[in-house]
Amino acid sequence: MLELKNIEAGYNKKPVLNNVSMRLQKGEIVALIGPNGAGKSTVIKTVIGIVKARQGEIIYNGNSIKSNKPDKNISQGIVYVPQGNTVFSDLSVLENLYMGGYILPDEDILAARIKEVFSLFPELEERKQMDAGNLSGGEKQMLALGRALVLQPELLLLDEPSLGLSPKAIKKAFEAIITVREKFNTTILIVEQKVREVLEIADRVYVLAMGKVVLEDSAASLKDGSRIKKAFLG
Ligand SMILES: Nc1ncnc2c1ncn2[C@@H]1O[C@H](COP(=O)(O)OP(=O)(O)OP(=O)(O)O)[C@@H](O)[C@H]1O
Ligand SMILES: [Mg+2]
Repeated sequence: MLELKNIEAGYNKKPVLNNVSMRLQKGEIVALIGPNGAGKSTVIKTVIGIVKARQGEIIYNGNSIKSNKPDKNISQGIVYVPQGNTVFSDLSVLENLYMGGYILPDEDILAARIKEVFSLFPELEERKQMDAGNLSGGEKQMLALGRALVLQPELLLLDEPSLGLSPKAIKKAFEAIITVREKFNTTILIVEQKVREVLEIADRVYVLAMGKVVLEDSAASLKDGSRIKKAFLG
């Protein structure tokens, strides 16, 4: 459902991605891992349309989205959860979820979607009147995920959802990701530094180093870690 073909992209004159090709099947969880600065976030930003691909092609559901602006991609079911903590601290949990669905045409649809998010994450419903700033790290990440789910994405782009979380919270966040796929058959591209943990939930893995895909395989066959270690070192 998503294919990147020979993508070249970067910032101003700085090239970052070098001939990057990736494929995601419908309902797959694909992990994108690699050292700091490898270009993982740039891949995600290129898919959503924040960074323009200079060369190559991006095909989503059979159509080129290479020239799309982010809002067009969002309206076509691609939702991006950026790296770092991105809830609105001064708004309540419920208000954050409303913000997530502001582009939905209908208030009733939005209310129904929020109800669905609450049934998925009862922790959020219990805290719906709380300021999001007072949530724990894991709960904030859950809220960021819940806010994305309000749009019922077909393709969910997650940039380091484990960032700043305790091991326990990471486990919870990753369980939530599995639940999302089970419930909605969402296709998920997840950028992660927590390699061992993400191998537990991913179907397939791409390793990016210095802007290039240096390894691609099923998560199961990469479990022992030795080939990944080698790939990280370039
Ligand atoms: N807005 C920007 N302007 C210029 N250079 C940038 C910009 N954003 C990222 N870069 C550079 O592009 C390269 C790739 O960055 P990117 O954020 O994609 O890496 P990453 O793999 O996500 O790293 P990390 O694991 O640290 O998040 C880095 O050298 C970075 O300094
Ligand atoms: Mg990054």
